[in-house]
Amino acid sequence: MTAHHRIPGPDQPICDTPLRIVHLSDIHFWRIEIGPRDLFSKRIVGSVSLLLGRARAFKLDRLPAVIERVLSLQPDHVVISGDLTTTASEREFQDARAGLAPLLEDPRRATIVPGNHDRYTGEAQRSRRFEEYFGEFTGGPEFPWLKHLDHQTAILGLDPTRADLTARGHLPESQIVAAHHLLGGQLTPDPDGSGEVHVGVPPHKPRRLIVLCHYPLTAPPIYLLELHPKRLTNAWVLGEWLRLLGPHLYCCGHIHAAWAFRPLDLPEQLCLNAGAPLMHDPRGFRSPGFLEILLDGDSVSVVHHCWRRKQKTWDALPLIDVADFFAEAHPGAGRPMDSQIQLSRRGPSL
Ligand SMILES: [Fe+2]
Ligand SMILES: [Fe+2]
Repeated sequence: MTAHHRIPGPDQPICDTPLRIVHLSDIHFWRIEIGPRDLFSKRIVGSVSLLLGRARAFKLDRLPAVIERVLSLQPDHVVISGDLTTTASEREFQDARAGLAPLLEDPRRATIVPGNHDRYTGEAQRSRRFEEYFGEFTGGPEFPWLKHLDHQTAILGLDPTRADLTARGHLPESQIVAAHHLLGGQLTPDPDGSGEVHVGVPPHKPRRLIVLCHYPLTAPPIYLLELHPKRLTNAWVLGEWLRLLGPHLYCCGHIHAAWAFRPLDLPEQLCLNAGAPLMHDPRGFRSPGFLEILLDGDSVSVVHHCWRRKQKTWDALPLIDVADFFAEAHPGAGRPMDSQIQLSRRGPSL
């Protein structure tokens, strides 16, 4: 990241400030370590899983090449959407912090949210180990937070992770309410007196909003079966709120596959998954890599930088290019009635 790729100031018009963002996810630093205390902890599950093949699946020795490729793009900003570790151990976090150091020289140029593996044990969650090692790359001490990249671009960080025996996530509805407040939204009592809380459209949503959250709300059809057992259990509620916001990017990971798509029931969202850059897929279906996102005015283009193992080369695969994405309006496209949602309403989960 060089000096000439500076973050634009508030006096610059949006069209003059292309922003190049590198999106990484699911790096999964791992260490096989089992101590006596671990026999009574969830880490034993992760360690056995590692012994059964995870170490083969995530090639840590590929990391320097990934970092070199990222730096060669001279990004203005790097986002990492969680699962930096595998069992959230102290050593894994130390390795992750040291290994990613070349990308983390300036907290203003890197933003990170945790994945479920970064809260893998109750102890890691209670001790806020993720915050200890990567807190300076968040946008605030508690989720949600809003981190501004320029006067019209901001990252909204959400955290639905928890120490749980399953890989499912759950976003506390209090985070949605707080996020709504961060965007200048108001809460109003339900006029029918049922006690439910309604929220209106937040007026201060940044024009180029990037939601950073480990869990996708949904996935392209070929990944839906894989997502189901490790889904965000209340994705529907978050989706209803995001539908209010209009155009936004949603940067996620969790499913170790790169994609860029617009969900059918959330057409104003461009959902981006960076895949897992160190993953080794012997079948060759999922090339490991990361995403390069170029924001130019209201336009978005996304390229998947993927490593071709057999050829031993990087490929730059264009995934999507949407002119005027942030200026698009889809009148009535899935907007809830009266532009309101009920946070306490129960809906179908994915
Ligand atoms: Fe992961
Ligand atoms: Fe995950």
